[in-house]
Amino acid sequence: MYRLLYPMRTFLIVSGGDEEINVMTADWVTVLSSKPFMVGVAVAPKRYTHRLIEKYGEFVVSVPTLEMLKDVWIAGTRSGSKKLEKMGASFIDSKKIATKSIGEAVANLECNLVDKRRYGDHTFFVGEVLHYTYNEAAFRNSKPNLKYNFLAHVALNEFVTFEDKIHKM
Ligand SMILES: Cc1cc2nc3c(=O)[nH]c(=O)nc-3n(C[C@H](O)[C@H](O)[C@H](O)COP(=O)(O)O)c2cc1C
Repeated sequence: MYRLLYPMRTFLIVSGGDEEINVMTADWVTVLSSKPFMVGVAVAPKRYTHRLIEKYGEFVVSVPTLEMLKDVWIAGTRSGSKKLEKMGASFIDSKKIATKSIGEAVANLECNLVDKRRYGDHTFFVGEVLHYTYNEAAFRNSKPNLKYNFLAHVALNEFVTFEDKIHKM
């Protein structure tokens, strides 16, 4: 019943260095530390992405918006880099690692793999964020601008975005 923790934000994980590029969709992504900036992602061992993260020791967490939903769906329902032909995403060089970033994403976090551990049916990969790039309009004043339609996953093929209405304490 992991859905009890939903809705969850949805991200794209790029892997494969600069040679075997692949993208998969992942909900199970979290911040682990701010200084140093570290993130974790749970990836099932049968994913092609799992093999590539282990092989290259790096990955990129890309932040998609609603406009990228079709790509999010393809990346999350097909396995292997042939899916890239069906996707509209374009790849741009990352600054600190060989694995590419996604040009259309509103942020890209370049991660160096620092730890991994198997928990049940997933491997938790821990990455130190060596560099990040982002769309300044989408993160105005160091916070997400909700006009940018950040994606969250409800279940199966159902996604939502956030209402642009802040409740202040
Ligand atoms: C919205 C969504 C979220 C997903 N989240 C995860 C996740 O957190 N971890 C995971 O291992 N798979 C997750 N998946 C499944 C993978 O994205 C899917 O199996 C994909 O085809 C793997 O691609 P690959 O084999 O090319 O790496 C998710 C799928 C969708 C549609």
